[in-house]
Amino acid sequence: MIGQPLTEVTPQHNPDDLLLVNRNWPISGEYVPADLRVTEIPGQVRKLRAEAAAAMEEMAAALRKETGKRLISVSGYRPYDKQSRIYARKLKKVGGVEALADEYVARPGTSEHQTGLTMDVGERGVEDNLGDAFGESVSGHWVRDNAWRFGFILRYQKGWEDVTGYEYEPWHLRYVGRAHAAYLHEHPMPLEEYLLLVREERLLRVLARRGMTQAEEPEETAEAAGTEEALPAIEDELPAMETVETDDDQGGEDAASLRDLRALRSA
Ligand code: DAL
Ligand code: ZN
Repeated sequence: MIGQPLTEVTPQHNPDDLLLVNRNWPISGEYVPADLRVTEIPGQVRKLRAEAAAAMEEMAAALRKETGKRLISVSGYRPYDKQSRIYARKLKKVGGVEALADEYVARPGTSEHQTGLTMDVGERGVEDNLGDAFGESVSGHWVRDNAWRFGFILRYQKGWEDVTGYEYEPWHLRYVGRAHAAYLHEHPMPLEEYLLLVREERLLRVLARRGMTQAEEPEETAEAAGTEEALPAIEDELPAMETVETDDDQGGEDAASLRDLRALRSA
């Protein structure tokens, strides 16, 4: 299958893997996820991709059970055009100073909200959820400590501004799946940096599979990279979400390739 190993080591371009969207890595204005659905989270702009939607609903139920608070959606999936309008509005508000608008709002084509894997959340009853208030609310604290259990990461954290390009946003949750989120809970780092680790490990595995390097234990690779644990096993990494192009043949290839990797890992 042409391109198969490349797909594996370029998860940043794959909507069903660790898709990266930021100022330097825009997404096509044409991209619309195929499996969007309206979540049961009350609020506005409530769509997410199917797997992220289910995880968000599970998280909201756990929050309710553990704290009594209700999660609301402030903004989930936003198509390119909507992001254009939001950016234009923000720019007007800050007197046309682009640097100020850029601190909080992504330009069209560079927002994670277009992936359908991101939701800005709030707590019902909190007045200014897209401000400091959410971070200081019961839900804000709980989300920071528990979102990983449901496969979400806080994408824009304090101290990461130089890497992510954004100020701290305690409300902006990105779905990456449980295995990745659990690893990032133990080893907090921006998605941009985590992708470097994941890609390195996958590349080593591909090379080992082809007999181009000595097969290394993934644990050794992780140690060499200065981390304490191995990265999530590849079979846990790829969320079982529908792909954008549904090509059954490719699905078969993927399954075979995952089996190979699993065999390599346990060898
Ligand atoms: N607030 C985030 C950066 C966005 O507009 O996507
Ligand atoms: Zn956001």
